[in-house]
Amino acid sequence: MKTSELRKRYLAFFESKEHPVRPSDLLTPANDPTVLFTSAGMNQFKEYFLGKKKDLTRATSVQKCLRTGDMENVGRTPSHHSFFEMLGNFSFGDYFKEQAIAWAWEFLTGTLDFAGTKKSKNPELCLSLPAEKLWVSVYEEDDEAAEMWTQLGVPAERIVRFGQEDNFWPANAPSEGPNGPCGPCSEIYFDSDGKVDSPKSVEVWNLVFTQYDRQSDGSLEPLPRKNIDTGMGLERLSTVVQGVTSDYETDGFVPLVEAARKLKRGPKTKKDSETFALHAIADHVRAAVFLIADGVMPSNEGRGYVLRMVIRRAYRLGRSILDVIPSNDGTYLVQLIPTVLEVMKDSPYIDDLLAKVTLVEEALGDEERQFVQTLESGGHLLALKIEELKSQGKTEIPGAEAFKLYDTFGFPFELTEDAAAEQGMTVARSGFDAALKEQQKRSRAGSQFAGGIFAGDSLTIRDTITNIGSKDQQFVGYKNLKAHTQLLGIWDGKSWVQEAQAGQQVGLVLEQSP
Ligand code: SER
Repeated sequence: MKTSELRKRYLAFFESKEHPVRPSDLLTPANDPTVLFTSAGMNQFKEYFLGKKKDLTRATSVQKCLRTGDMENVGRTPSHHSFFEMLGNFSFGDYFKEQAIAWAWEFLTGTLDFAGTKKSKNPELCLSLPAEKLWVSVYEEDDEAAEMWTQLGVPAERIVRFGQEDNFWPANAPSEGPNGPCGPCSEIYFDSDGKVDSPKSVEVWNLVFTQYDRQSDGSLEPLPRKNIDTGMGLERLSTVVQGVTSDYETDGFVPLVEAARKLKRGPKTKKDSETFALHAIADHVRAAVFLIADGVMPSNEGRGYVLRMVIRRAYRLGRSILDVIPSNDGTYLVQLIPTVLEVMKDSPYIDDLLAKVTLVEEALGDEERQFVQTLESGGHLLALKIEELKSQGKTEIPGAEAFKLYDTFGFPFELTEDAAAEQGMTVARSGFDAALKEQQKRSRAGSQFAGGIFAGDSLTIRDTITNIGSKDQQFVGYKNLKAHTQLLGIWDGKSWVQEAQAGQQVGLVLEQSP
């Protein structure tokens, strides 16, 4: 069954259970400044969980998500991703545990009990995963959930109890917080050998019983309205349903992996490093396309920095591990955009992606071109440094060296780390962090004096730019990639000047900037 069919069935199944279908929120939630990216289906429903909004009691969605906590695992395991889609059904003070468990079982197996004697009335909306390959976990203190699974006929040995790290959401909330709505959860696992809690078991669905409001003293107050928040990773579900062993072997990824492979110089190999690079590139290109389409532009801070990292990491893996053949201008990731559109052609996002494809191509291409320059200068220095350290028998790149590359050439720490790992070396993270902190302290000290008696020699570039003329500078790149505008100032690295000579490197401040 194709990934697009899984999306459709899931939404149709919960629609048949009276859940209004809600569209995916953006990857950059407009109304929630507390998070950088949407990381779960429940994010867009926070106000409903807290009881602040009451016009919905149920909902279902397929949500675009981005998680960056585990980036180094992306491409190395069968199921880690930065960008992924989460299927979810939600109850805001309406149905609770028993119903959530019963519907989850019905959707996955097409039956109403473990033995399969009672069938779903809507088998065409369900999957038909074999019961004997499923097992479940419950929170160690949640006798109620264990009893409900038992009532469905799940044998005792297929109901496992785990602690708050695995079976509470957010993880470890009782002992560590955060305060606010939280609850025990029950997870459904698929194991192709039918074993319980084996290394091959894949966690497919997380049913969260949001029933407590954690207080500052750590106590768990029961919520007046109990909620349900479920989340099932679409990519993992595809793997299970399509009977493959990795998300990268499903229909959502194979064309992308193959398209990336075509850019590679030389014959196909089965080397782990090649597989890793192809998978990571497939993941990162999807993430980059969706981030740009949702309004993020590569930059040096916040969301833009994450996007920049994703693009640069993919770019470098392609050049260093796959030895891809780039276009004349050094770009190659842009060539994968049509394949992202192809694998998403039956998804709910396709119209939006098609409308923004020019923006995506230009932004991704520009970032690649800019990175080529960074790589040339920073990468060359790094290679020399690594050679020098190796000849001295050292296996660690000092943090200060990594910081110099970052600070002077915009060469990201993570890439220094990757390059070091390829040579069997490590980078001193603590030294890098210390240097970064020191620099931040210096720049804060600099800006504190802005406008004060030391203004003349302590203004930061940003402060000075703000002082240029009375005009505001405006970023117009979300809509346009070209603009006719006014030049407001020329910075030669030390001061503002009236003119610059050919060949001189200067910074330009424009009234509008794309
Ligand atoms: N919020 C839970 C999760 O992210 C279930 O949707 O796993």
